Amino acid sequence: MNRLYAISGVTGMTGNELVRQILVDGSQDHILGFDNFFASTIDTVSDHIDDKRFEFFEYDITDAGQMTDFEDRVRALSGDYDELVYINCAAVVHTEHFYHVYETFDTNVLGMKAFMEQAIRVGAHKYINCSTSEVYSMNSWNEDGGVKESDYLTMAVAEHSQRTSYATGKLLTEFFIKDAVDEGRIKGCSIRFANVYSKDERYPKHIIPFIINSFRDNGKVVLLENSRKNKRTFLNNFDSCSAVLALVSTDSALDGTVYNVATEEEISIIDLAKLCAVKMGIQDPVIEFEGYRESDPERRLLSTEKIRSRTGWKPAVDLAQGLDECISNYLRDH
Ligand SMILES: NC(=O)c1ccc[n+]([C@@H]2O[C@H](COP(=O)([O-])OP(=O)(O)OC[C@H]3O[C@@H](n4cnc5c(N)ncnc54)[C@H](O)[C@@H]3O)[C@@H](O)[C@H]2O)c1
Repeated sequence: MNRLYAISGVTGMTGNELVRQILVDGSQDHILGFDNFFASTIDTVSDHIDDKRFEFFEYDITDAGQMTDFEDRVRALSGDYDELVYINCAAVVHTEHFYHVYETFDTNVLGMKAFMEQAIRVGAHKYINCSTSEVYSMNSWNEDGGVKESDYLTMAVAEHSQRTSYATGKLLTEFFIKDAVDEGRIKGCSIRFANVYSKDERYPKHIIPFIINSFRDNGKVVLLENSRKNKRTFLNNFDSCSAVLALVSTDSALDGTVYNVATEEEISIIDLAKLCAVKMGIQDPVIEFEGYRESDPERRLLSTEKIRSRTGWKPAVDLAQGLDECISNYLRDH
């Protein structure tokens, strides 16, 4: 079987690794991908930029004209492939934007909906919707093996903080794809990732590049007060991508529902900073605390039993290995 993939946000962390994992040697698959470089650069796909099986477009998912051009290109090629798969990775992701409802809405909600309608119009077989574990909001963990996809949600609301606007938008997209699958218009699902990181991150907005870059540039790291208590798990982009592809290849899993994708390797943010320091050869690292983030759950621990049992997926990169790759890349590129 050969597949034509249409991927939004293709130079982002999950998108760029999709290019590598799909276009392995001998693969007959083809990728049409676009990104507006809001949070990435073309460098992340430099190893495949001259590959005839990969066509890149500098397009914005909210630009109707550009999306029509993209749709035309999909139509021109789709007849040559057994299966047409849409994967929506484009999103305004970083925490600083979560607090600004208008910054995330157009791309994350309207963009996802328009891209899904395009997929249905061109007769795509599958649509994978990247959602977020942020939807678990204030109940992001339990002592019973982690939160499940079917658990009821307890969300911080506008009475508490604007933070949840990002999660609320993503949650709405889960209903769009569920409806489309239930109506028999396409197969698909949503994925709730937790804390994806990558050795190719260029902007120190997520916690791992932030810590490493702070130690590198300032010899110390300044964390939020929340970090005195907070713990997280971290998902390498190799594993976020392999989860997407596991779902693409498992038709029975594409029932419109939601899949948690995360690791079970929980670490406190303070221990994460100390671990990075050790790996960077810093003795007695200086860790300071400043500022406070509202509506930030102390832990985020997800049960991944559903995707593991339905597709056989499991994470392959542990945190120690992932951090080694990040540190070596961030220091080399500096
Ligand atoms: N990174 C995480 O921790 C995390 C956690 C949960 C869910 N997710 C979700 O996973 C998906 C993939 O995210 P990622 O981890 O690869 O993050 P990322 O920020 O690396 O990738 C998102 C990509 O979308 C692009 N983009 C943003 N706005 C766009 C627009 N209007 N048009 C076209 N491209 C646009 C960005 O430039 C970026 O390359 C997203 O839907 C995100 O919400 C990510």
